Amino acid sequence: MASLSFQIIHVLVFCACILIPTSSQSHPHQPEKHAALFIFGDSIFDAGNNIYINTTTDYQRNFWPYGETFFDYPTGRASDGRLIPDFIAEYAKLPFLPPYLQPGNNQFTYGSNFASGGAGALDQTNQGLVVNLNTQLTYFKDVEKLLRQKLGDEAAKKMLFEAVYLINIGSNDYLSPFLWNSTVLQSYSHEQYVHMVIGNLTVVIKEIYKKGGRKFGLLDVGPLGCVPIMKEIKLQQGGMGCIEESTELAKLHNIALSKVLQELESKLKGFKYSISNFYTFLEERMNNPSKYGFKEGKIACCGSGPFRGLSSCGGKSSIKEYELCSNVSEYVFFDSVHPTDRAYQQIAELIWSGTRNITGPYNLKALFV
Ligand SMILES: *[C@@H]1O[C@H](CO)[C@@H](O)[C@H](O)[C@H]1NC(C)=O
Ligand SMILES: *[C@@H]1O[C@H](CO)[C@@H](O)[C@H](O)[C@H]1NC(C)=O
Ligand SMILES: *[C@@H]1O[C@H](CO)[C@@H](O)[C@H](O)[C@H]1NC(C)=O
Ligand SMILES: *[C@@H]1O[C@H](CO)[C@@H](O)[C@H](O)[C@H]1NC(C)=O
Ligand SMILES: *[C@@H]1O[C@H](CO)[C@@H](O)[C@H](O)[C@H]1NC(C)=O
Repeated sequence: MASLSFQIIHVLVFCACILIPTSSQSHPHQPEKHAALFIFGDSIFDAGNNIYINTTTDYQRNFWPYGETFFDYPTGRASDGRLIPDFIAEYAKLPFLPPYLQPGNNQFTYGSNFASGGAGALDQTNQGLVVNLNTQLTYFKDVEKLLRQKLGDEAAKKMLFEAVYLINIGSNDYLSPFLWNSTVLQSYSHEQYVHMVIGNLTVVIKEIYKKGGRKFGLLDVGPLGCVPIMKEIKLQQGGMGCIEESTELAKLHNIALSKVLQELESKLKGFKYSISNFYTFLEERMNNPSKYGFKEGKIACCGSGPFRGLSSCGGKSSIKEYELCSNVSEYVFFDSVHPTDRAYQQIAELIWSGTRNITGPYNLKALFV
């Protein structure tokens, strides 16, 4: 027995000596194999594209105290620190993806971030002030051409095939009618309106698929009617509480989104997706902040008015005076609409590795394999 186990150990050691050095030394300086990340959407994902377009400061946020927690300087991200795609990039061992429109940004081998604060799936949503979803798709197609020139058709195709496409859109289509102009919303039934939003999103997913994309990560939209800005609007209208109509639209959207993704999965060969219950993640933290380590779930850290729901954070809009909380880690919302770095981190972890009942049928970790 003794000599047998000695022989086995000897064989194992022998094999290890041959295999380990050759596999690790053949490409000593090559980076780890990685799938790229392409990001589409609105302010939940925008890492600063809006700095480079002609828009209002309301959609740019490249001023203090935005960025105060993590970056120490404002980056154009609508939060005190990182956004969901930043955490996802970190978990996937990718660098932070810079905004596509950032001058000099022409290295797309890790992917790109096309998202634009205020953007919707409908062209009319904040028209002229944002890069709408359709234009983001156009930018992606430009990148695809560039990659084919740089890497060759085969390598570009392989890269697009392995990449993950993270999309978050819809919130502004359901918020802006209550903030600015409800003409478009009022011309349709709720079902028709949601159908248009989902229709435009579906077109974009199919176009990415045609270019070789197979792995899609989506978030449903949050409890929109109860975010601080909407409660402020409700107050201004002489009411109290949430704008239920906006939340109703969000719920219809979320039902329609999961249905359309199931249809795409059954129709498109090789199509894989992940949908996360952003709605529930945010609502739970708003209603039970202490359960998640926060002190305040409903009032924003930065802004003015009873919920700090007036978008005055930073004092660059028409309202110059605003309040800023002393400890942002205690808050779910940083400003009138956007969660904090800490809330985003918790949510990003659920998107990355959440169990099937909250993030499915795949989580993002599984899509990156
Ligand atoms: C930016 O937009 C403003 C207001 O819409 C307009 O007056 C101005 O000419 C635009 N600037 C550029 C460079 O397009
Ligand atoms: C998206 O919706 C708008 C209506 O706002 C429509 O005009 C536009 O053509 C749609 N875009 C796509 C890509 O379907
Ligand atoms: C509201 O939007 C509609 C459609 O885009 C536009 O025709 C109308 O002029 C806008 N109204 C106001 C008051 O801005
Ligand atoms: C800020 O709040 C977090 C979360 O409640 C807490 O862990 C931390 O100690 C606080 N920091 C300060 C400086 O009070
Ligand atoms: C999801 O499933 C996990 C265990 O797999 C469980 O701990 C968790 O409570 C469930 N969450 C919901 C929202 O059902």
